[in-house]
Amino acid sequence: MSKLLNCLLNKDSSYVPIWFMRQAGRYLPEFRDLRYNNPDFLKLCLNSDLATEITLQPIKRFNLDAAIIFSDILVVPHALGQSIEFKKQGGPRCLNFNIEKFLEIKDKDFLSTIEPTYKAIKKTRKNLHEDKSLIAFIGAPWTLTTYLLNLKDHINSENKVNIKNKKEMSLVLKKLDKFLKLHIINQIEAGADIIQIFDSWAGLINEDDLNDFCYKPNSSIVDFCKDNKIPTICFPKGLKANYKKFINLVKPSAISIDYEIDPRWAEKNLNNICIQGGMNPEILLKDEKIVLTETEKFLEIFKNIPYIFNLGHGILPETNPEIVKKIVDQVKLKAK
Ligand code: CP3
Repeated sequence: MSKLLNCLLNKDSSYVPIWFMRQAGRYLPEFRDLRYNNPDFLKLCLNSDLATEITLQPIKRFNLDAAIIFSDILVVPHALGQSIEFKKQGGPRCLNFNIEKFLEIKDKDFLSTIEPTYKAIKKTRKNLHEDKSLIAFIGAPWTLTTYLLNLKDHINSENKVNIKNKKEMSLVLKKLDKFLKLHIINQIEAGADIIQIFDSWAGLINEDDLNDFCYKPNSSIVDFCKDNKIPTICFPKGLKANYKKFINLVKPSAISIDYEIDPRWAEKNLNNICIQGGMNPEILLKDEKIVLTETEKFLEIFKNIPYIFNLGHGILPETNPEIVKKIVDQVKLKAK
């Protein structure tokens, strides 16, 4: 069993595994070189040889405990027949969402588009030491819906999204639920051993809508994973104190905390669960001394519970790879 799985499943707190969200990405010059020659991002995600190579880039540089397959949460809406535009400003947008076409997409059409991801997982697993986990992921239904329906155009003064058409919402969420489960099973069968569920925009949901748009959709997927003995890490970014309610209702194998969560609060309040992450990615842009002090702080706070070292969101493109190496070395030094 990999060291990460031992922490996650056996709740072994004697070793702190480490990996980074977006560890295969723009802070690595070797990724930027490859990206420069591949301007179409979705095409790059769906090139199995290059996706394998990119997944392994950080593993070659650092002594990480897990690889995360190079892909994007938006590959699923793309495979569901929608056209996603990656704009430099304002983030990605779905152009002319076509609900009829979306609801009609068949398994075989979805799978034929997304197949290269499974090939990349197979190939990566062959090239990854058995000590290391291979993490696959999905975007949670709500987070994918924010792009499909361009919900961020409807943010109110409290920084929440008003949902007007709940009927349309529930149709979209239901379709995503089905296809995300299909995607999970195929990623696991190809050789991934953990699924991380990214609900990057959970923080935009009104308190009254959290049940319908966050807890229930995440539970449906986590329960499905449990039925299939698949370990899960949930990342409901932006939930603040509702992280506690989330773990009590959804009960994933591990919870990834974002940088707005006070790690001391998490250690006290998020009980009987493996905790991952938390450190602000902005810290990595500061002096080495500050970075290592902050790393030490997280190791100290979580020393008595099963903890996976990671950040409170993806690693920033401006990050110096040398500082990443320093963090990994520091965490390893602590490993008993
Ligand atoms: O940790 C991981 O690698 C998990 C997979 C993941 C990626 N993106 C990989 C990725 C996840 C969960 C995302 C989330 C994502 N992707 C969101 C939701 C918001 C968030 O940040 O959580 C959004 C809006 C996207 C779309 C996206 N992905 C854009 C607009 C871009 C930039 C495209 C470009 O022109 O380079 C990406 C790039 C991306 N996604 C990379 C990776 C590893 C490569 C570059 C990077 O490091 O940013």
